[in-house]
Amino acid sequence: MIFAYFSLLIFLFLQLLSSSGAAIGSNVLKSYVDLLEFPLNLEYMEAEFFLWGSFGYGLDSFAPELADGGPSPIGARIAKLSPLIRDVIAQFGFQEVGHVRAIKNTVAGFSRSLLNLSREAFATVMNDAFGHQLEPPFNPYANDINYLIASYVIPYIGLTGYVGANPKLHSPTAKRLLDGRLGVESGQDAFLRALLHERGSKNVEPYGITVIEFTNRISELRNKLGRHGLKDEGLKVKPTVGAEGKIRGNILVGDKYSISYDRTPEEILRIVY
Ligand SMILES: *[C@@H]1O[C@H](CO)[C@@H](O)[C@H](O)[C@H]1NC(C)=O
Repeated sequence: MIFAYFSLLIFLFLQLLSSSGAAIGSNVLKSYVDLLEFPLNLEYMEAEFFLWGSFGYGLDSFAPELADGGPSPIGARIAKLSPLIRDVIAQFGFQEVGHVRAIKNTVAGFSRSLLNLSREAFATVMNDAFGHQLEPPFNPYANDINYLIASYVIPYIGLTGYVGANPKLHSPTAKRLLDGRLGVESGQDAFLRALLHERGSKNVEPYGITVIEFTNRISELRNKLGRHGLKDEGLKVKPTVGAEGKIRGNILVGDKYSISYDRTPEEILRIVY
């Protein structure tokens, strides 16, 4: 999510400088290994956020070897969830552990970087999305709706990243690993959107702002940060933006042909960091 992973950024820069001596420009992260490793941090974040949210503990308990000695996330905690949502999120959590494992089995990868999953980190994102401070600060762990909204951000970033990376991969092994993750990430995104859609006209309390408005604001923020126009859409859009330019409901995001948008690693870095 849009947290400050300074340690990761520094790591990425060091890795880029040392591995290729390349200038930091639009063609960075272009090797296959980079394209496979790049999403590893997103997968770590998803695994931790979902495991912590549903169980109250994370990779250090379920698969410490995958953390590879990296620091434990800051501020992650169990969320107040109904049994249905807890079950969904627990499944997502284990799916993400599988993704981390698959990446690390294929490429060397790196150890878990420092993740800030604190309430304050999420509150900052929501304040940015609305352009003013929400009072009281947004708490992702407070209830189903807040947790689903906080989760709304994550698989979709992975999805667009995988769509963007795919044409640049040539090896069948790399393509297989990426497509296989894309399938599950887009399933997660669809499921989260469906749950939010069902609750669309409910207010996020105590703000009196609907779930739909939250999704629209978060998507707008990501569009702004990505700086490549409209690639992110909330649950309700202008009819011209919906499928075939004919419908406001927007359960899945797509371009005018309902084809998934792609994002480059550079766009994702601007969104996530
Ligand atoms: C986590 O993020 C919040 C919000 O940006 C910040 O206030 C807090 O200091 C961060 N925690 C650490 C340990 O970096």
